[in-house]
Amino acid sequence: MVEERVLSTGDLIWPLFVRDGSGLCEPIPSMPGVDRLSVDETVRAAETAASLGIPAICLFPYTDAALKTVGCEEAWNPQNLTNRAIRAIKAAVPDIAVMTDVALDPYNIHGHDGLVRDDGVILNDETVEALARMALVQAEAGADILGPSDMMDGRIGAIRNALESAGHRDVAILSYAAKYASAFYGPFRDAVGASGALKGDKKTYQMNPANSDEALRLVARDLSEGADMIMVKPGMPYLDICRRLKDAFGAPTFAYQVSGEYAMIRGAAERGWIDGERAMVESLIGFKRAGCDGILTYFAPDVARLLAGG
Ligand code: PBG
Repeated sequence: MVEERVLSTGDLIWPLFVRDGSGLCEPIPSMPGVDRLSVDETVRAAETAASLGIPAICLFPYTDAALKTVGCEEAWNPQNLTNRAIRAIKAAVPDIAVMTDVALDPYNIHGHDGLVRDDGVILNDETVEALARMALVQAEAGADILGPSDMMDGRIGAIRNALESAGHRDVAILSYAAKYASAFYGPFRDAVGASGALKGDKKTYQMNPANSDEALRLVARDLSEGADMIMVKPGMPYLDICRRLKDAFGAPTFAYQVSGEYAMIRGAAERGWIDGERAMVESLIGFKRAGCDGILTYFAPDVARLLAGG
């Protein structure tokens, strides 16, 4: 009767890793219980999500190293892995919302989210143009929600303009607005095959973990440029940011419980050091308490099954 917050399946977005081939579920060692899925298996996962009542899935491609270039051209290939997966999912499970990642890192020989100049500088404005192209191709493939995770300046406005000019009025933008330069992305970089490629760090475009006021400025900017929803990433070390953003803007606010957070809970649970199920639910209700409307989490199918009573 006096419980203040409720966690429900409708709050969940399930991130999936897509790879080439068929009939493949390839385990990711640093993310126990998470697999890289071929497109047909991704469609099956989308069917599972729909049957559990999970409203949205989010796709991340594991790109063949041979397709990675300095110019990241594969990012806007209409036939790239992500775009093929979107079409296949939309044909088989039209009711699930498909979210994509808009960033160049899976296609970049340097492993960075932006284009890299010879001397190592990240080229903000050139990257923004590339991201708008990439976003448009994803919208054409049928994506419902675009998730720019690159942290370049000005990309939300550029993507919104590109969508409007092409008549894509119903595509939502969920901006990774407050994304920190974090050690907790380690397992994800293994999952998408970017750990080997990345030279240096992402600190010139991702946020300093010491900053909080900056998050308010970045979110204000992204909302004014046309973001529909905002995200804080990682989640658990940044619950104060979720609360400040929700209080300041009232916009639909999401947290990304990232790969390292997932790995910590799963890894400790596998060793019997914590009760994995309870830790999963406790970590997720924490996001609701901090003001989040929803959570991107690799636990999505597990928690949905639990909430369904099985
Ligand atoms: C990169 C991207 C990252 C994640 C989502 N998109 C990693 C990074 O910024 O290096 C991390 C997600 C996770 O750790 O689960 N565009």
